[in-house]
Amino acid sequence: MNNEQTQPPKFSWTTLSPGYECLSPMAGVTDSAFRQICKRQGAAVVFTEMASANMMLNAPSRNAAFLHYEEWERPIVCQVMGGDPKVMAEAARLIESMGFDGVDINMGCPEKKIVGNACGSSLLRDPELAARIVEAMVQAVKIPVSVKMRSSYYDNEIVQPHFAKRLEEAGAHALAIHPRSKEQAYRGSADWTITRQIVEAVHIPVGGSGDITDRAAIERLKQETGVQGIWVARGAMGNPWIFDRSRTERPPLEELITTVLEHARLMLHYKGLHGIIEMRKHLTWYFSGFPGAVALRDEAKRVSSYEELVGLIERYGLSPTSL
Ligand SMILES: Cc1cc2nc3c(=O)[nH]c(=O)nc-3n(C[C@H](O)[C@H](O)[C@H](O)COP(=O)(O)O)c2cc1C
Repeated sequence: MNNEQTQPPKFSWTTLSPGYECLSPMAGVTDSAFRQICKRQGAAVVFTEMASANMMLNAPSRNAAFLHYEEWERPIVCQVMGGDPKVMAEAARLIESMGFDGVDINMGCPEKKIVGNACGSSLLRDPELAARIVEAMVQAVKIPVSVKMRSSYYDNEIVQPHFAKRLEEAGAHALAIHPRSKEQAYRGSADWTITRQIVEAVHIPVGGSGDITDRAAIERLKQETGVQGIWVARGAMGNPWIFDRSRTERPPLEELITTVLEHARLMLHYKGLHGIIEMRKHLTWYFSGFPGAVALRDEAKRVSSYEELVGLIERYGLSPTSL
């Protein structure tokens, strides 16, 4: 459990096998249940949802469930966002004391309220503050400090290699790059040529994110950019099998439904009935690409209990025993 760490942490970004694939942090998605589902399929490293440094320090009880993880999820990295070096260093100490294997700084979130608080992607406009945050956190803890960043704040800005180098000088142990600007949000496509420039500019490991939709994209990103690892995000939604190197496609229906039910049981276990409500979005991602999926998806948006979900799956003749 989280608070009982006795062994010194051993995780290091440099000792991961080249080409490792991790589950990229996603707010509202990468909770313990989904991390476990992805881990089972082969995700090498998993991340928590983004935590606010201020909230962690000022309202720790609100984070107890949010930051829960199971031992077998390791290596697990906690992502944190904030804009004050002292507060971020304090949050890093707390994260280390909770037994996380690493701490990752969010320098990519484009949400208005995050950017308005001088956090997330707004740090891309202030390399010196970003570097001071990294320095303060690196000095505060022994676990590795990584940064996940977008390529720039504004479209058509060429600040990335300079910014990445500044973070490296400040002591960052690894970087991950989502090569879209803050202005771009999730529109258009990720520009992997920027990822390549950053890989060439720094000596620390760089992970690549952006438009990783399937295994073919994973292989292309590795080849085109030379990244050390791949950070899979939307491509894992409804498709945790993307981490399974032995597959090129999603599994047969029976296996898909078995995983859906396992996932729902984990949600119920950790979050009670609210977990099933949260599960609805995962159901809409899982239920695609097979006959009847559209109608099933529509009904899945209304399930309120595990039993209702099982009943729905049975009505569609998709129960693992009847397939
Ligand atoms: C719903 C959602 C939530 C996200 N939350 C975070 C987050 O909390 N922290 C972060 O660094 N990136 C976050 N991201 C960005 C992803 O980790 C990833 O970098 C981005 O989606 C690009 O990869 P993709 O095009 O393969 O999805 C989020 C993305 C999505 C879709």
